[in-house]
Amino acid sequence: MLQSLQEDHKNIAKLLKVLEQKLAHIRNEKAVKYKLIAHIISYMQEYADRFHHPKEDLIYDYYVKYRVVEDDLSDQLKQQHQSLLEMTDELSDILDIILLDAVVPLDQFSDKLETFIKAQWDHLNYEEDVVFPALKRHLTEDDWRAIEQSWQHGKYEDPLFGHRVQEQYKALSERIKLSEPLDD
Ligand SMILES: [Fe+2]
Repeated sequence: MLQSLQEDHKNIAKLLKVLEQKLAHIRNEKAVKYKLIAHIISYMQEYADRFHHPKEDLIYDYYVKYRVVEDDLSDQLKQQHQSLLEMTDELSDILDIILLDAVVPLDQFSDKLETFIKAQWDHLNYEEDVVFPALKRHLTEDDWRAIEQSWQHGKYEDPLFGHRVQEQYKALSERIKLSEPLDD
C-alpha cells in the first residue's frame, strides 16, 4: 500500500516539474498551452484529491488510533489535503475561464500556480521525509492488512499513469514522456 502511494508521489513529482516549466514560461511571457496545465490540474482533482489523499487519510487515521503519536500528525495532514483540494479547485476554475478566452491577469494566475506548486512540494516532502518513515517504523504487516481491508473504494485505475491512459490524458502523457530524460 505504501509502495503504491510512493509510486503516486513520483508521478505527482513529474507533473510538478512540468508545471514549474510552464510557470517559468508564463513569467517569461512565452506562449503556453493552458490546456496542458488544465489536464494536470484535472488529474490532481480526479486522482490525487479523490483517491490518493483519502488512502493516506485512512492510514493516518489508523496510525493515530492504534499508536502513540506525539504530535497532531493526522490533523495536520488532513488539513494539508483539504487546503490542496481547495487550491486545486480554484486553479481549475481560473483555467476554465482562461480556456474560454476570457481575460485573466496572468500575474495573478502565475502567483496562484506558484503557491500551488510550492504547497504540493512541501506536502510531498513532508510525507516522504516524516510521515512515511514513521509509518514504516511503527506499523506491522498485520496493521497493513487491517488497513487494506478497511479500504472501501476498491481498486481505482490511475487514468494517466495506469495501464491504460485515458483519452483526455493522452497529450499530457506524451508530454511527460518527452520531459523524462531531461529530468534525470
Ligand atoms: Fe501523498
